[in-house]
Amino acid sequence: MNKRPKISVYIATSIDGFIAREDGGLDWLNCVGASDEDYGFKDLVDSIDGVILGRNTYEIAAPVEDWPYKGKRLIILSNTLQTVREGAEIYRGDLTQLISQLHAEGIKHIWIDGGATIAQFLDLQMVDAMTLSVIPMVLGSGIPLFRKGKEVSCKLLSSQGYPSGLVQLKYQITK
Ligand SMILES: NC(=O)c1ccc[n+]([C@@H]2O[C@H](COP(=O)([O-])OP(=O)(O)OC[C@H]3O[C@@H](n4cnc5c(N)ncnc54)[C@H](OP(=O)(O)O)[C@@H]3O)[C@@H](O)[C@H]2O)c1
Repeated sequence: MNKRPKISVYIATSIDGFIAREDGGLDWLNCVGASDEDYGFKDLVDSIDGVILGRNTYEIAAPVEDWPYKGKRLIILSNTLQTVREGAEIYRGDLTQLISQLHAEGIKHIWIDGGATIAQFLDLQMVDAMTLSVIPMVLGSGIPLFRKGKEVSCKLLSSQGYPSGLVQLKYQITK
């Protein structure tokens, strides 16, 4: 039996490693968004039963009407928010404890999202898989995907290029 849920990253990044513009802008993702291709997003959503979002990511996602987290255990990390959308809950504090709690509740696979959030889980050596969609764009500045932290070894499971120019890299974390 697993000691904790699987934890996965699924995120789009510029070639130079940014996940958003300095002001949080995501308009640059549109350059790969015109076709019906979903880049494996539905498969990811079907495979998870839990989602952990940093507050900044939640605030971008919250106004979206048809949001992808329906039916999932949805945790928003925040020290400042008092309320969140129905179906979500706020957590502040120790992330190891949060994962133990979700494990005890039977959660099996969690998608974590947001740069600061991913950085903490990487540092805790709790990330098991990463799917990085590299967008054909050098932003020059922005919110970084990776922060200063511990070294992480990864095994490349697959790399797939799409007609849009997006390249998707799937990694298993080997510690
Ligand atoms: N390219 C993509 O695919 C993609 C995907 C996701 C997000 N994004 C973008 O990335 C940006 C967000 O990333 P980000 O690095 O700014 O941060 P983030 O991880 O989304 O949010 C950081 C915030 O989460 C809260 N937090 C994190 N860890 C916590 C903990 N252990 N306990 C309590 N609160 C905790 C804090 O909120 P408080 O300040 O409230 O305490 C912190 O300021 C957004 O612009 C978003 O649009 C892009």
